[in-house]
Amino acid sequence: MADAIFQKAEETKQKILDTEVTTAEQLEAFRIQYLGTKNQIKPLFAEMRNIPNERKKEYGQLLNDVKQTAEQKFDSLKAAVAGDVTQQTVADIDMTAPPGELMVGSRHPVSIVMNRIINIFTKIGFTVAEDREIEDDWHNFTAMNTPEDHPARDMQDTFYLKDSTTHLLRTHTSSVQARVMTSQKPPIRIIAPGRVYRNETISARSHCQFHQVEGLYVDEKVSFADMKQTLDYFAREMYGPETKIRLRPSFFPFTEPSAEMDVWMGTKTEEAKKLTKGTGWLEVLGCGIVDPNVLENCNIDSDKYSGFAFGIGIERSAMQKYGISDIRMIFENDIRFISQFRSEI
Ligand code: DAH
Repeated sequence: MADAIFQKAEETKQKILDTEVTTAEQLEAFRIQYLGTKNQIKPLFAEMRNIPNERKKEYGQLLNDVKQTAEQKFDSLKAAVAGDVTQQTVADIDMTAPPGELMVGSRHPVSIVMNRIINIFTKIGFTVAEDREIEDDWHNFTAMNTPEDHPARDMQDTFYLKDSTTHLLRTHTSSVQARVMTSQKPPIRIIAPGRVYRNETISARSHCQFHQVEGLYVDEKVSFADMKQTLDYFAREMYGPETKIRLRPSFFPFTEPSAEMDVWMGTKTEEAKKLTKGTGWLEVLGCGIVDPNVLENCNIDSDKYSGFAFGIGIERSAMQKYGISDIRMIFENDIRFISQFRSEI
């Protein structure tokens, strides 16, 4: 009786070893037969109770051997079938066929404009500083000399995090000024690109998210003239060597005096007229001399140091450069829109 059972197990092992398959279907049949939930090795285990005690160990070892044989055989059959498939596919390839079209990625218009601005400023010694989009109100407002009751702090304008009165989505990249000034000593010369958020109704002209590039220069004896020259250089690099700028007095809590910079687009073309609302001047950025309060808030001695800062909106430049009429397109990531842009950098 026991001998017959031993023999059956040996035969099963031999059958496994003798199996040959050429197709994926046959391979699957083998798997079901020897490794599936109802495989043919299982009943052999059930025979254990008919084996006398002194031979149980020997029988157990034999069954393990059968099982392992099945597993190893399956692996080698599988490799052989896969090899065959590859062989077939290689033979099917027409090596003389012309290649398919190569898909080349393109940069987002916002990135193109942002990189351009970064390049212009890194050429004159500014380094890039990036920081968080979720800010606390100290870095976004308090340090930037924006008082508690300033309307910008209103929920209507600022996205606060759920159930928070202190944490918000930064409303401008000026928060990076506070981050940098509290962690570095002057001279400071940074440019901070990034995304900002404001609680605005989304329309063709405004969005609840957009991008800015912030600039900050703090050192001994930094003057308004230094700022003007730097911005003049920027405008000529950005808009062409003949570009004229003008600075209009303005107000920002973090700068004193403050200004807005316009570049001259002219009124000759219809496009320029539309863009500048008939004035010829396009508003490009806000700027000013860093308010001494801001320096002191960040533990920088305002008797010894002074600085200038500026903030450039990116979307407006991108829309103007590429003739984009609706700001929403910039954020929809419709491939038909974003694949149109090509950049030098
Ligand atoms: N933070 C201002 C805004 O979001 C832009 C700005 C104006 C930044 C003047 C500056 C600055 O650094 O000096 O509208």
